[in-house]
Amino acid sequence: MFVLFQTVINTGKHYSFRKILNAPLPSCKCLLNRNISDAPKKFITFDEVVAQRRAEAQRSLVVQVNSESSFNELYGYCSRYASINGIHHYKNNGGEHFMLIEFASEDNLKDILRSCGSHHKDLDVMALQSPFLWFRAVANKKEKFTVPETQLINKDGTLPVNEDTLFEQLSHCKTVSDQIQVLYEHTMLNDLGVRLRYMVARQLETIMESLYANMAVRPFGSSVNGFGKMGCDLDLVLTNELTQEMTDPNKRLVYQEKKCEGGRSPWQRHMELMGELIELRVPGATRVQRILNARVPIVKYAHELSGVDCDLCYSNMSGVYMSELLWLYGSLDPRVRPLTFVIRRWAQTVGLTNPHPGRWITNFPLTLMVLFFLQQKTKDGFVLPPLKFMSKIATKDDIRIAEDYVNCTFVRDLNRLPPESYGQSQSNLQTLLLQFFEFYSQFDFQDKAISINEGAPVRKPNNLPLYIVNPIEQALNVSRNVSFEECERLKMEVRNAAWQLESCTEGDRTDDWGLLGLIEKRTTRGLKKLLRVGNSHRLVSVKDLFNEEDTSDKRLSKKSDKESAKVAQTVKVEKKEQKIKFKNTTIANEVYRIRRDKIV
Ligand code: GTP
Ligand code: MG
Repeated sequence: MFVLFQTVINTGKHYSFRKILNAPLPSCKCLLNRNISDAPKKFITFDEVVAQRRAEAQRSLVVQVNSESSFNELYGYCSRYASINGIHHYKNNGGEHFMLIEFASEDNLKDILRSCGSHHKDLDVMALQSPFLWFRAVANKKEKFTVPETQLINKDGTLPVNEDTLFEQLSHCKTVSDQIQVLYEHTMLNDLGVRLRYMVARQLETIMESLYANMAVRPFGSSVNGFGKMGCDLDLVLTNELTQEMTDPNKRLVYQEKKCEGGRSPWQRHMELMGELIELRVPGATRVQRILNARVPIVKYAHELSGVDCDLCYSNMSGVYMSELLWLYGSLDPRVRPLTFVIRRWAQTVGLTNPHPGRWITNFPLTLMVLFFLQQKTKDGFVLPPLKFMSKIATKDDIRIAEDYVNCTFVRDLNRLPPESYGQSQSNLQTLLLQFFEFYSQFDFQDKAISINEGAPVRKPNNLPLYIVNPIEQALNVSRNVSFEECERLKMEVRNAAWQLESCTEGDRTDDWGLLGLIEKRTTRGLKKLLRVGNSHRLVSVKDLFNEEDTSDKRLSKKSDKESAKVAQTVKVEKKEQKIKFKNTTIANEVYRIRRDKIV
């Protein structure tokens, strides 16, 4: 992947390469089989990718099994009744084992459920149908199954990359650009992660189908916009729009329907019902929370069978179109997604973003900041076109109107963009990352707003600290929640990062060379540097962290250096008051800082 990437960067236009990136889904064979020498082919649009994923989910089941060695038996059992495309294995957060089986067709899946699907008889349970099942053991009977023709596609397929392994790999990269690419490839949401998210959506569809006509549950946000990392949350939107055929005035038998009465908005009422249904009727759903008074009412829940945290909202198509827009920008140039990944990761490391909502910036506006930077005409040229250009070349097929008549019209077929309208800059990822930090170090946050529609700074209409124009509802600011202090911290952190990146890429390779200094938590790095675990010339021994006279905690003194370091990371020092003697002030300061940051 990286070799290809380099070739493309060095040879200029990535006309056909963008189509490779257009296929972040390894399962989509038709998309994957492209290579650099291919002549430009039809662009696979977001709608087509989504349709393919939804169809895949409609012919798939998730089955809880005893362990990964249940593969042979499960394969043998199911393949007697239907043909199987492939089986993936994963474990949820509770360590339980599951297999996601994709059948060859939806009819196959129906056959399987008809022939072998059963309910567990229990008086307290009202039976329901959903694509999440379990595989019953056979008592006193050893069935013989033919040996499967295929292997498990993956084992433990949703396990995120081990951080130590990742940092090890990053430390061995030759360039910062390589590091960025490695980080992207090892942390991006994988095929199974996407499949499972569509299964969770499918489960809600199956269960709610009889209550709402033509209802669909669509994933949006980072699960589908190409910027999702392993373990990311799942944003879901429930829609039940009527098609033209369903509202044909020539048809004379018209359904009686129920109007939502009462003071509160119908959406709030429906979401309230969803909350109840999810709590009562959706296998795997726990910790249901209803946030109904927000601008967009949502129901949050944890889906334990898939290990995914979900946010469900109602009829929010503008969120889906926004995800499509981000996906299109990410598909246009191979540098967009890796660069955004590293910036999201850096922001998380320095604490600019936080999984909980608050007065700080979140990943979505941060992504808009990256896109905006890539639209700037630097001396090397720009990477991405402004949204107004994408809207200008849209055709009637691209017209989309979301709820409240929000216009979400922009070009959907990237092959329609003229080559000179994007990818003019040939800068590598390292240069772009540094330029990003430098650009925002100098940005006039006081008077200017960030607008990917214009691709250039615009005047701020009010004095909120950070103003990022909502690309599809331009009167709104997507960072209206950001406080003055958080905006000041953002400015400070981009300056720090620019300085850090510049100084860490020059001269000798140290522990925090390149990306390592930017994305490894300072506390962890500080402690590692201090202890130099496994290194004979460590700056300070573990003993130095504690009072030499302090014999009460024998845990450290009895263990090996490596173990002691581990203990030092986790043990809370209770005797804060005790005086500690250090070899010199540098060590004392460092120990003080680490203690303050609650590592020791
Ligand atoms: P993570 O969940 O942090 O991985 O990123 P995310 O991109 O999924 O962001 P988030 O869950 O906050 O939002 C989900 C999606 O909703 C975003 O990707 C956008 O498409 C959309 N979205 C977020 N904020 C707004 C907003 O203010 N207005 C509109 N119209 N859409 C928004
Ligand atoms: Mg999200």
